[in-house]
Amino acid sequence: MKKIDVVLGLQWGDEGKGKIVDVLTPNYNVVARFQGGPNAGHSICFGNQSFVLHTVPSGIFRAGTCNIIGNGVVIDPIILMQEIRAIEALGVNVREGLQIAKRANLILPTHRLLDAASEQKKGEHKVGTTGKGIGPAYTDKIARNGLRVGDILRPDFLERYHILRAAHLDMLGIRSVDDSEWLNAVEQLRQFAIVDNEIVIHRLMEDDRSILAEGAQGSLLDIDFGTYPFVTSSSTLCAGACVGLGTAPCHIGQVFGIFKAYCTRVGAGPFPTELFDSTGETLRRVGHEFGATTGRPRRCGWLDLVALKYTVMMNGVTSLIMMKCDVMNEFDTIRVCVGYELNGQPIDYFPFEATDDIRPVYRDFPGWKCDLSDCHSYDQLPQQLRDYITFIETQTHTPVSIISIGPDRNQTIFRN
Ligand code: IMO
Ligand code: MG
Repeated sequence: MKKIDVVLGLQWGDEGKGKIVDVLTPNYNVVARFQGGPNAGHSICFGNQSFVLHTVPSGIFRAGTCNIIGNGVVIDPIILMQEIRAIEALGVNVREGLQIAKRANLILPTHRLLDAASEQKKGEHKVGTTGKGIGPAYTDKIARNGLRVGDILRPDFLERYHILRAAHLDMLGIRSVDDSEWLNAVEQLRQFAIVDNEIVIHRLMEDDRSILAEGAQGSLLDIDFGTYPFVTSSSTLCAGACVGLGTAPCHIGQVFGIFKAYCTRVGAGPFPTELFDSTGETLRRVGHEFGATTGRPRRCGWLDLVALKYTVMMNGVTSLIMMKCDVMNEFDTIRVCVGYELNGQPIDYFPFEATDDIRPVYRDFPGWKCDLSDCHSYDQLPQQLRDYITFIETQTHTPVSIISIGPDRNQTIFRN
């Protein structure tokens, strides 16, 4: 039986998962999302086009690929249908290639309002969520109140919906909410392949089909091991692929861990290597570090190897993928965080108390100071960049197998 390979982000999201899934898809028959929802913004660039996916797996632009939205995902029918229409407008046959899990939970219009109300109540301690209703939707799932995609096929769906809606309105202290667009989108959703994804996936594996599981967000936003409470509400780690698709840990094969050559974070929460100076500004400007889902400017800082080693460990990463090296082309010096100081004590692990009190300890590397666009193989990369990569490999005990030097599919260097 073929194993499932997993692609996931090792930082705070926005590592470039969309691009890499799209680049790897020709090697796979199936791409499956296993957690998160429309809080994700996975960007794909080809030709002169660029496209941001929120719920649909990033394999959708490769003809013949089967794309599965797994049970671990939370789905907003409005956003999903908008996305599908936008992809169809590019001439892609989405209906044919997309399967949606019956067991995936639905995001209701009131979940978005609850998300906003929760943030407002937290005031200056707010998480800085994407406002898509993610937390409240997962809360209802765990509290056993949720509605699932399979429920829309039941004759009593509207009844069930109105019970949950009424409970939400009660919590919000409002009388009603306009949900006509949502109900319309639910109607359209009924026309898609709504499946028992765990069985579909198991049969595909038995038929020796290759499956790539696409993570959303990043390991440092994981509900258990991220910088809680400044995290998202799902299991973003490799283990999440098992429960989010309905497969056993023994069926997981390669684990591709994606990281940027530096770090970014959107929303609130600790970020030990954050830069508040012109270097941070340069990373944001050159790297176009503005949220693909919310447009918010991303906080930027140096690569944090303490955090990276932690997430490599938590995911069992077999292969690293390094993104956005080109953003640092002009830098004289590149700093890498190799340790922390917490309350004056040196520590070499990612602590429970990941607070603003952490002081990063840096090691400096000389920049490569050149354009990378003419590099087509690893040997052609400047020595300084290769030294930087070797250092990361030594520290993480994991090979860097793909290096991205630009947003386009073609700006990708594979290493054997
Ligand atoms: P992709 O898949 C970056 C962040 C939000 C916020 C926290 C909780 O594109 O990498 P939520 O709306 O999930 O309740 O917000 O998580 N966040 C992301 N940051 N990339 C993402 O997805 C994110 N999804 C959520 O900014 O800090
Ligand atoms: Mg994003």
